Amino acid sequence: MNDALDELLPRYAVAIESPGAPSDLFDPPLPVVLEIGFGMGDATVTMARLEPDRGILAVDVHTRGIAALARALDSEALTNVRVAHGDAVTLVEALPEGCLAGIRAWFPDPWPKARHHKRRLVQPVTLTLLASRLQSGGTMHFATDWPEYAEQMLEVVSAEPTLRLTSTGFTPRPEWRPMTRYEKAGLTAGRPVADLIAVRV
Ligand SMILES: C[S@@+](CC[C@H](N)C(=O)[O-])C[C@H]1O[C@@H](n2cnc3c(N)ncnc32)[C@H](O)[C@@H]1O
Repeated sequence: MNDALDELLPRYAVAIESPGAPSDLFDPPLPVVLEIGFGMGDATVTMARLEPDRGILAVDVHTRGIAALARALDSEALTNVRVAHGDAVTLVEALPEGCLAGIRAWFPDPWPKARHHKRRLVQPVTLTLLASRLQSGGTMHFATDWPEYAEQMLEVVSAEPTLRLTSTGFTPRPEWRPMTRYEKAGLTAGRPVADLIAVRV
């Protein structure tokens, strides 16, 4: 793990508190999607392969996942991903307004206990911050296997005046969205998966 962090990560690393304009992380500049909480990076790598004309700015706090993603990017010679190690909100606060083509958070930690709900990513203040970094027409895509969190996502996104849902409620699972480890675990446990997609007005 340390080899990947020491030798490979510097090629992809972005300073969490001073990322600059995301499109300029790539040469030539690319429209950029922010992926929050990529886990082991499986979906990140698949999406980078599928969309070579988009950049992905991937952020996570999990050191083992950061090392795994750096290794995968190196072995597949992918050049359209940059990696930020740390808290997503710290990164987003440091980004300029209106700079992102998309934001996705697939299976963010559900924090099931009521006393921990305040730690959830999708809540009003954080969502307003995230939406402010989307360009007009940019997409916000959440997915969860936790029904009560899905309802919270729907309520919070519906109430955010700068976002418009693309359906009246949840969206059928997009075929192009890669199956993630957490999605598999949720399905195995019999939990339904909900996708929610909104556009910045
Ligand atoms: C439930 S996992 C989902 C991982 C992956 N998206 C998947 O579906 O397999 C949630 C991920 O969010 C990351 N995470 C939690 N809090 C975070 C934060 N404040 N900033 C960035 N990432 C965070 C965790 O480290 C973990 O990798």
